[in-house]
Amino acid sequence: MIKCAIIGVGGGRARGLAEAYGHVTRGRLAAVSTRRRDRLDAFAAEFGVPARYTDYREMFEREKPDLVHVNTPPSVRLEIFESAESAGVPGVLVEKPLAIQGEDFLAIQAFARSARVKIAVNHQLHFHPRRGRLQQQVRDGAIGNLRFIEASAGMNPAYQGTHALQAIGAFNPGAAPVAVFGQVSGADGLAETTRHHYAPDECTGIIDYDNGVSALLRCGAVAPRVIPGDSVNVHKRIAVYGDRGFVHWTMHDWESRIDDVYERGEHVYAEEDILGQAAMTEAMIDWLEDDAAVHPLNIVSALSDFSVILGIYESALNRAVVSLPFTPSPDLVGKLRATLG
Ligand SMILES: NC(=O)c1ccc[n+]([C@@H]2O[C@H](COP(=O)([O-])OP(=O)(O)OC[C@H]3O[C@@H](n4cnc5c(N)ncnc54)[C@H](OP(=O)(O)O)[C@@H]3O)[C@@H](O)[C@H]2O)c1
Repeated sequence: MIKCAIIGVGGGRARGLAEAYGHVTRGRLAAVSTRRRDRLDAFAAEFGVPARYTDYREMFEREKPDLVHVNTPPSVRLEIFESAESAGVPGVLVEKPLAIQGEDFLAIQAFARSARVKIAVNHQLHFHPRRGRLQQQVRDGAIGNLRFIEASAGMNPAYQGTHALQAIGAFNPGAAPVAVFGQVSGADGLAETTRHHYAPDECTGIIDYDNGVSALLRCGAVAPRVIPGDSVNVHKRIAVYGDRGFVHWTMHDWESRIDDVYERGEHVYAEEDILGQAAMTEAMIDWLEDDAAVHPLNIVSALSDFSVILGIYESALNRAVVSLPFTPSPDLVGKLRATLG
């Protein structure tokens, strides 16, 4: 049985990580760490976690976990990766977004080139049962040759944009982005906060892939609303078009038209999500047990995705197409604040 731990259980997201262990058969949640003692004790008591720490380094030293969930703000990524590497932690599942801007992106990229620790990014929607079935259908050629992909999310790129971008890659696996043309607006999401999810409020990006597929990404208020109501966090969706038909997934339903046969159905996001989180964790255990079973959400593919987000910012600031891969310029968040604020 794999020994698992979570860093950062004071916020809301850690509950979803812990609840998924009810569906993980080869791993158990053995330890948690968070700096606030009251939150630590409340969380550990609720989920029956035996080992509790206010310092994650001490948790690495004493518990020797096999798999660690990094559930901290994006400003606290690399220091935990480095600490995990020195402590000999074999695996890390880190929450999105992987980075904030060019500086930390480049530092994480440099770290990943030589690190032994296996890292994947927590884009659990890839493993939602319904989305997984649609991804498999498209991979099996059900909609023919891919023509165009269109993905969107109701929140900004830092909060939800990387989910939408990862979805594009999930339906177009193995293809590398080669160019991006972007537009951004809105500075509310660039204001200083302790959550460090800095991003313009809205963005669009037209992304070209090396297999000839183009994709449109829309985040924030420019994204289509998929159900009525005021909530901004319930609109993640993706539509994938091929020369034999299309598939369309949203957080609440799905539809497809393949060779003139139309189908649709509904799902409950929370039910899909807990199963997706568990399946993503099991896939991490596969990778820990077999070097060849590389996790589809591995850090190399996540870095490639994140470079597209940075490319959108760079493209919008310079009013130019950005060829990928590229080296982001310094202080993109500062430049976005100066331009949009
Ligand atoms: N995949 C998804 O569907 C999904 C959904 C929601 C959120 N998320 C992501 O999950 C992450 C966490 O979200 P959340 O809502 O739980 O955030 P949060 O409320 O900001 O909590 C983050 C945790 O990080 C810890 N932390 C903050 N600074 C730290 C530091 N310097 N060193 C160590 N720990 C630190 C905090 O614990 P202490 O202060 O007690 O140490 C807190 O428990 C975010 O990146 C978010 O985007 C993902």
